[in-house]
Amino acid sequence: MEKILVLDFGGQYNQLIARRVRDEHVYAEILPYTTPIGDIAAAGYSGIIFTGGPNSVYDPASPHYDAGILSLGVPVLGICYGCQLIAWMERGEVASAPVSEYGKIELDVCAGSALFDGVPETSVVWMSHTDYISAAPSGFTVTARTPDCPCAAMECAERGIYAVQFHPEVTHSQFGQRMLHNFLYSVCGCHGDWVMDDFIEKTVASLRERIGDKKVVLGLSGGIDSSVAAGLLSRAVGKQLTCVFVDQGLMRKDEGDMVEGTFTRLFDMNFVRVNCQEHFLSKLAGVVDPEAKRKIIGEEFYAVFWDEIRREGGGGFFAQGTIYPDCIESGKGDAAVIKTHHNRVKMPDDIEFEGVIEPLSELFKDEVRAVGEKLGIPRELVWRQPFPGPGLGVRIIGEVTAEKVKILQEADAVFRDEMAKSGYERELSQFFAVLPDVKTVGVMGDHRTYDHLIALRAITTDNFMTADWARIPYELLARVSNRITNEVGHVNRVVYDITSKPPGTVEWE
Ligand code: XMP
Repeated sequence: MEKILVLDFGGQYNQLIARRVRDEHVYAEILPYTTPIGDIAAAGYSGIIFTGGPNSVYDPASPHYDAGILSLGVPVLGICYGCQLIAWMERGEVASAPVSEYGKIELDVCAGSALFDGVPETSVVWMSHTDYISAAPSGFTVTARTPDCPCAAMECAERGIYAVQFHPEVTHSQFGQRMLHNFLYSVCGCHGDWVMDDFIEKTVASLRERIGDKKVVLGLSGGIDSSVAAGLLSRAVGKQLTCVFVDQGLMRKDEGDMVEGTFTRLFDMNFVRVNCQEHFLSKLAGVVDPEAKRKIIGEEFYAVFWDEIRREGGGGFFAQGTIYPDCIESGKGDAAVIKTHHNRVKMPDDIEFEGVIEPLSELFKDEVRAVGEKLGIPRELVWRQPFPGPGLGVRIIGEVTAEKVKILQEADAVFRDEMAKSGYERELSQFFAVLPDVKTVGVMGDHRTYDHLIALRAITTDNFMTADWARIPYELLARVSNRITNEVGHVNRVVYDITSKPPGTVEWE
């Protein structure tokens, strides 16, 4: 399989670069800049992309790379910091720019280039830099510029070296995807063999071979990753797969039944559902601190899960829905900085498996979704909003009780129902109801009430690191509020959260 290396110098768009390459049906993997050149040479890449990064190439402490990489005979594309690094390695000049460029900037193509085939002479690109190339290295042609950047793109086509100061991977760069396409197909000579149908076929075949006639167990959370992993494994080995679904009773209304129904109907496998709401609620009794609740829910989840695995009898393989972003080492700072593998689970000492299987470890989230759809997993599961592992446990502020779980499930179901009916749900990244630990005075008929408050939260975001509260129409909010106070017992007031992140977080706990 042809593949592209995205060499990570710590830029914020590194995963995006790899995803855009994969959008062109070429497999891309991300490795830190500390990867030895010998390993890169041996891996047989069709092309290498140097990413952006926050440093200045003239700072001796900044991440550098062996200039020999430009002589491997593998085409290279440098982006932003990666572009400046090429200039630096080839003895051009890089300096602090008199004018920094940030945002959408007009780019003028000033020389013919394979990279700009099909790109108009003038177009908009996304810039984000304070340094610039003040003199291109000898042997390089400047192929594009902007009013404040005399070398916005340069190349040495004979050696297959291309560099752009702007970010073609960002959608604000009007023809960025076209440029990446040109690099992959015209410069690197790729053919585009990364397609999801092939992925399913190849993965199913290799899972069959590896698993043989052994058993596999998988913990199913109802989230997209474990669901798609279950789908692939079921297709590969059918009843040799046992999926253990721990229902802690902190999911949304009817969600446990939906997960069970979907998997038992769609796939050939053994499905084991462990209903343990009472157990979780007893462990959570009297606990109000959010982090303590998270810890208890996380620990109990695995305690129940491993007990079930012991009951099933050990042996065979253990499967997980780890996806590619969980496996990438960050290039920021030292090689020692490794992203927490939050999807990877530590196994108790008394449980032994022949090995761990992670069928999605090469895929980004959107690719996992594409595979899920091709496997026939319903849209509502494949396109599910993020849902915190501790579930409603962190949406009930203060102590979690069975009564509060029921109230919140009902209120949340009304909110979701109205959002679906209005068609508004597709516009939002996440929305849900929260049950704060607050009772307020109300009036119903001629009676005074003293009951729970429900808060509604709805956000838009690209990445969940920052978020804005959603401007949903008042009429919709009015309907939701009306229905919740009428239909859900013990709720007499509804409020809407108008806090962005920061300073708020998406969840209330
Ligand atoms: P915050 O509240 O940190 O949420 O702004 C950002 C995104 O992460 C989700 N989230 C969690 N997911 N376990 C999870 O698996 C958790 O403990 C957790 N806390 C927050 C949240 O729903 C949002 O999508």
